[in-house]
Amino acid sequence: MLNSVLSLAPSILSADFGRLADEIQEVEAAGAELIHVDVMDGSFVPNISVGLPIVEAARKATHLPIDVHLMIVQPEKYLADFARAGADIISFHVEASTHAQRALNQIRELGKRAGLALNPHTHESCLDYLLDDLDMVMLMTVNPGFSGQKFLPSQLSKILRVSEKAKSAAHMIDVQVDGGVNAETIGAVVKAGANIVVAGNAVFGQRDRGAALRGLRQAAAAHG
Ligand code: DX5
Ligand code: ZN
Repeated sequence: MLNSVLSLAPSILSADFGRLADEIQEVEAAGAELIHVDVMDGSFVPNISVGLPIVEAARKATHLPIDVHLMIVQPEKYLADFARAGADIISFHVEASTHAQRALNQIRELGKRAGLALNPHTHESCLDYLLDDLDMVMLMTVNPGFSGQKFLPSQLSKILRVSEKAKSAAHMIDVQVDGGVNAETIGAVVKAGANIVVAGNAVFGQRDRGAALRGLRQAAAAHG
C-alpha cells in the first residue's frame, strides 16, 4: 500500500542553526508535515553535519515527526541512540549496512518507522527481499552529502518502479524523495509516485518559508 497523501519534509540542513527552534516552528506553523534531519559522518559522505544533540533539540522544538536520515557507516551502532534522541522515522543507506534486514528490524523493535535509503546508482532490486521489513523507501535524487544540488532526472523511472512495488505491498510503505526538489522538479517527483518529499534549499533557503511550502504544494498539485 502506498500512502497517497503528500507530505513535505523541510530539511534543517539548510536552516539557520543559530535559531533552530524558531526555524522549525516557522515551518511547522506553515504546514510542514515532517522535520528532516540529515546526519553525515564525513565517511559515508564527504560532509559532516549534525548528530544526536540536534535531533534532541529538534524533538523539543516541535510536535511534528522527526525524520532522521543517517548518512553514516555502520548505522546499526547508533539506531538506539537516535531513537532515544527523539527520531520517529530512522532511515539508513543500504550501501552502508552489511545486514540491512536486521537493522530495519532493530528500528521497528525500537518502535520507530524503518526507512531504507538508496543512492542514485543503487538498483531498486535490493528492495525485493526487504519489502516486508521496511516502512519507507528513500530515493536519493542527488548524491548525498550536500544541500542545494541539482536534481537527477535519471531517478524518475526508479521512483515510478519503487512506488509500484510499494502499492503492491500488504502494509503501508512511504516513498520519500530527497535531493534537488523545488517548484520545478516536484511535479515530476509526485507524478512518479513519491508521497514524502524532502526540501532543503527550496524551503529554508527561501526568505518566506510559508510561501515556499505553498509554492511546492501548488506545483505538486498542478503536475502530479
Ligand atoms: C543531501 C540531504 C538532503 C538535503 C536536501 O544529502 O540528504 O536532505 O538536505 O537539500 P536540497 O533539497 O537543497 O537538495
Ligand atoms: Zn536527507
